[in-house]
Amino acid sequence: MMRVIDLAHRAAQSNIPVVLEGESGVGKELVARAIQAASDRAGKPFVTVNCGAIPHNLVESILFGHEKGAFTGAAERHVGKFMEADGGTLFLDEIGDLPLEVQVKLLRAVQQGEIETVGARVAQKVNVRLISATNKDLIEEVKAGRFREDLYYRLNVFPITMPALRRRKEDIPHLARAFADRFAIEQKLDHPLAISNSALALLTAYDWPGNIRQLENAVFRAVVLSEGSELLDTDFPQIAAQLPGYFANEHPTLVVDNSQTHASEAAAGERMERGMRVVSSDATATSPLPVGDGLSTGSDNVIVSTNTSGDVRKLADVEEELIRFALKFYRGQMSQVARKLGIGRSTLYRKLKDYGIDPDDPQKSAA
Ligand SMILES: Nc1ncnc2c1ncn2[C@@H]1O[C@H](COP(=O)(O)OP(=O)(O)O)[C@@H](O)[C@H]1O
Ligand SMILES: [Mg+2]
Repeated sequence: MMRVIDLAHRAAQSNIPVVLEGESGVGKELVARAIQAASDRAGKPFVTVNCGAIPHNLVESILFGHEKGAFTGAAERHVGKFMEADGGTLFLDEIGDLPLEVQVKLLRAVQQGEIETVGARVAQKVNVRLISATNKDLIEEVKAGRFREDLYYRLNVFPITMPALRRRKEDIPHLARAFADRFAIEQKLDHPLAISNSALALLTAYDWPGNIRQLENAVFRAVVLSEGSELLDTDFPQIAAQLPGYFANEHPTLVVDNSQTHASEAAAGERMERGMRVVSSDATATSPLPVGDGLSTGSDNVIVSTNTSGDVRKLADVEEELIRFALKFYRGQMSQVARKLGIGRSTLYRKLKDYGIDPDDPQKSAA
């Protein structure tokens, strides 16, 4: 996503036509709005057209408008989306669904900066910045003859590909917390809603075919149903139901690790452990961790690799957390803790001292 944000910033510096590619729900419209907001067209109209959702026979009139009496049923003059967006941005969603005959008109509008209103005698100048979005592979559409090649090259000057949520699982805890905060306010709860580590583990294990939109809705539902001050994994029954054996497994070992972000999904899919998806490097897969460092504290075994500001956490913080967890996990059996951590006993004692950890009460932080 850093790459997406960087490209979006650059795109905002000019009027270059942008195509946002990505699965449904990854945030294409959000980025399109962000580009407009960061450009000198901020505050000007941002007009959305869902090219896939309007009937074929109306697409042209919706995009370019029509004069009164232009066709049967055109009782009034209608201003098209292009005119509505004049001076601002026109967001053409699901551009791959645009009928071929309308593609010709769109090409003309893009090439000449003017539109032909249905039924009008003269073309009109418009000043519109175009951002298109697609969840299809447009090149495939071109090859299949469903999308005009000339239009493709006109629109696709500056492509930005947005990764699916399952390819950037480290974003899930941040997004989930942001949604929980937002919905807690919207639902007028009198307390903030934390998200338990078990819930974060569950949300991170899931693959989110509906991407951020699906996550947003899942958190919304959980907030509405929740009764305590914390969302639990049991508040996401639909998600758990899609992870076979989730609740059957009493002590899930789930480690959230960012190193797999770019690993192939197939590789991630292979990491099934006791019926659960483990997103982790092998080195840490068996080292369950509680979460700290500005994240809600709890006893569940999840490591979150980024802090609340989105940066990678300090190695020392993670190490301290792991040691505290190991002490609890092995009930203070120092030799076992040292052995499992792969360090000598004297090193362990030194680290306890450095981090101010009381081996008899590892959860307590030093004064
Ligand atoms: N980075 C993000 N932070 C918060 N909410 C997001 C983010 N990205 C997407 N969303 C939300 O997810 C939903 C889907 O985003 P949207 O831009 O409509 O996706 P798309 O156009 O790719 O289908 C929207 O409700 C949007 O507000
Ligand atoms: Mg959309």
